[in-house]
Order: sequence, then C-alpha cells, then structure tokens
Amino acid sequence: MVFIPNTFGLTIQADRLISWPAQAGQFNAKQNYLVVGSGSNLLFTDTHFNGQIIQVDNQTFNIRETDTHYEVTLGAGLNWHQTVKRLVEAGVNGLENLALIPGTVGAAPIQNIGAYGVEFSQVCDSVTGFDIKSGNIKQLSATECKFAYRESIFKHALKDTFIITEVILKLPKNWQANIQYGPLKSLNNPTAGEVFERVCQIRQEKLPDPVKLGNAGSFFKNPVISQAEFERLKVQDTQLPHYPQDDGSIKLAAGYLIDKAGLKGLRYRQAEVHQQQALVLVNLGEAIADDMIQLAAHVRQKVYDKYQVRLTPEVRFIGANGEVDAESLLEQHASTGLSRNS
Ligand code: FAD
Ligand code: EPU
Repeated sequence: MVFIPNTFGLTIQADRLISWPAQAGQFNAKQNYLVVGSGSNLLFTDTHFNGQIIQVDNQTFNIRETDTHYEVTLGAGLNWHQTVKRLVEAGVNGLENLALIPGTVGAAPIQNIGAYGVEFSQVCDSVTGFDIKSGNIKQLSATECKFAYRESIFKHALKDTFIITEVILKLPKNWQANIQYGPLKSLNNPTAGEVFERVCQIRQEKLPDPVKLGNAGSFFKNPVISQAEFERLKVQDTQLPHYPQDDGSIKLAAGYLIDKAGLKGLRYRQAEVHQQQALVLVNLGEAIADDMIQLAAHVRQKVYDKYQVRLTPEVRFIGANGEVDAESLLEQHASTGLSRNS
C-alpha cells in the first residue's frame, strides 16, 4: 500500500506506486492506473484507489538559444513553481505570471494552466509522452494539444492514455511584461523578477497555502456563457465581472457568483468556502471527501438558483477505480440538500 499525494490533505491509499520511467517495466496497462503529479487538482472520492499510481520522475532542465528565442526542455517531474523561479533567475522570461501555481511540469498541459493573463498554451512548443495504446513515444505540437481555457486533448481524445514525460517551451528573447491583468496594472515598466514577486504576493494574500489549509485552488471553472445569457444576467446584476472572449462568448467569475450567493465562509462539517476567495473550497483539517462533495454540490445548486448558471468543477474527481463524472456526482448530491448532517 502507498499513500497518494493530494493537496486537499485527504488520506488516500493505492495498491502501488510506479516511478516512470525507472519502473516502467512493472506497469500493467490491463489494471487500473492513474498518473499523479502533486495531486493539486484532484479530489479522491474514496479512501482507496484500486490500482497503480504512476509518478513521472524526469528532472531534465535544458535551455537552448536561437537568435530570437530560448527553447527550454523540461522534465515532467520538475516542480512547476521552482522551474519558473529558476528560469526567471537565469534571465529566461515569460513564465513569471504563472509563478506559485502548485504542481508538476507534466501536469501543466493537462488543463492548460493559467493565471494573471498568461496560459501555458502561449509558451508551449510541444509535449512529449508515452502513448499507452500504441506503446510508442509521441511528440505533439502545441496546435495538436488543442489547448483552450482549462482544456486540452489530454482531457479528451488522449484522456488517461498519455503519460507526459517532457515539454518544450519557446520563449521569445524580446520579452515584454504582461501586466494587463487588473492587480498587475500598477507595475511601472517592471522586470520579470518584479512581476514574479508581485504575482507571488497577490496569490499569497488570496489563496490558502495547501500545507496549512487543504485545497485544490479554484474548485470550479469560470463559466463561459453566450452574449444572450449575459444580457439577461446583466439586468439582474449590473456589477457582474465579465470577460468577453474572442468567439463572442462571455466568461464570468465563478468566485463572484458564489460570493454574491452569500456562501463565503459557509461551513459543512470540516469543509468551508474560503473567506478570501469563494472559488476555493478548503479542508479545515479533518475533512473527508464527502464533506467536500456535499459542500461543492450545495454551492453549485445555490449559484444555479440565483443566476441559472451551472458551475463545472475544475478539480477532477477520482473514485476507487478511476475518474468519475464530477458534474453528475454533484447533481446527485444537490438534490439531497446540505442541512441533514451539518
Ligand atoms: P495532479 O493534480 O496530480 O493531476 C492533475 C491531472 O493531470 C490528473 O488528471 C492527472 O492524471 C494528470 N497528470 C498529472 N501529471 C501527468 C503526466 N505527467 N502525464 C499525464 N497526465 C498527468 N491551476 C491553474 O491553472 N491556475 C492557477 O492559478 C492555479 N492555482 C492553484 C492554487 C492552489 C493553491 C492549488 C492547490 C491549485 C491551483 N491550481 C491552479 C491547480 C493545479 O495547481 C494545477 O492543475 C496543476 O497543474 C496540477 O499539477 P499536479 O502535478 O498537482 O497534477
Ligand atoms: N471575486 C469575488 N469574490 C470572491 C472571489 C472573486 O467577488 O470571493 C471576484 C474578484 O473581485 C474579481 C473576480 O471575481 O472581480 C475574479 O477573481 P480573481 O481575480 O481572484 O480570479 P478568479 O477568476 O477567481 C482565476 C483562476 C485562478 C487564477 C486567477 C488569476 C479559474 C477557475 N481560476 O480565478 O486559477 O489564479 O484567475 O488569474 O480560472 C485555479 O485554476 O486553481 C486557479 C486558482
């Protein structure tokens, strides 16, 4: 038996751990398996995962220069934040807005991590991994990865069948600071190091440190709705933060909707809607998965009751035998209500 790392701080076991590629020979594709980085985007709905946990241990860190770009090859097992820091310190800029995002390099392409106006897709050149179906190593270009907001091919056509081992990033030498995101606008002609520091500071003010208060960052994605739906909501709430997208749709702030539904600080057993950021659900210390699920279901239902907008979990729910449909699970729990056991 082994323990599975997860930032919710839940005690979860699995049958065995396979370090990739060193122990790849022990991998049995006919049995359940799950690739895990740091478990910072996972909610285990059971106390045991019946199968193998694969952890990629590639620590490659290599910078190549062309006249115009830095081409950076990174092993999937590297810690994301430490890698961003190391690159900024080496004068290789472009990732500073993505500072302090927990997790590994290998998980970054999965949901196309993003923060403060930058997404992984903007710096990605290619993603390399082991294709379990064919048994071959494959390299996908950034276009082939089909990146979108919190989306990629690895959540769809290549879901659970591709072990990412390495990514290559392409960062232009003629770097310019990206300070379009609200709280960064006050910076005046900053260096990458200054953007890095500011991003770390903002995040530390708002987001709970999983070591102290278990969480997986934003529990839900920010909902993307049609212009027509937005027109309806704008009448109801003139303050609604909204971000027009290239295709004409509108992205809303789920944290705002949860906050306005009066749910900030709401507690269910050992789970709580975070006081500083309502989009984050935290484990107060002794939570079990059911506490988190019941609270999330309640939050999703209350937001729907107030705004008729359905929130989709960003966090991936993993049951005893693999991923479970998070939306359906929350839907089932919403009908039972919160109060009966709280
Ligand atoms: P895990 O949680 O272990 O896995 C996530 C998914 O990726 C799983 O489906 C897993 O199977 C798959 N996976 C992991 N590694 C591999 C691999 N090598 N090959 C194939 N599949 C793999 N996310 C953001 O986008 N922006 C943020 O600003 C942000 N802030 C956060 C703040 C906090 C406090 C926390 C706790 C989380 C935050 N997150 C954020 C979410 C999380 O950090 C990211 O999703 C991160 O990329 C997850 O990395 P991980 O290594 O922990 O992956
Ligand atoms: N807001 C509230 N109340 C709250 C929380 C937010 O009113 O309790 C409002 C804010 O005032 C702001 C808006 O909602 O007007 C957006 O809030 P914020 O800037 O904090 O960002 P977010 O949309 O809640 C997203 C990402 C984060 C990322 C930040 C910064 C998603 C689901 N979340 O959060 O990513 O770090 O932007 O770019 O897209 C994650 O994915 O885990 C994550 C933390």
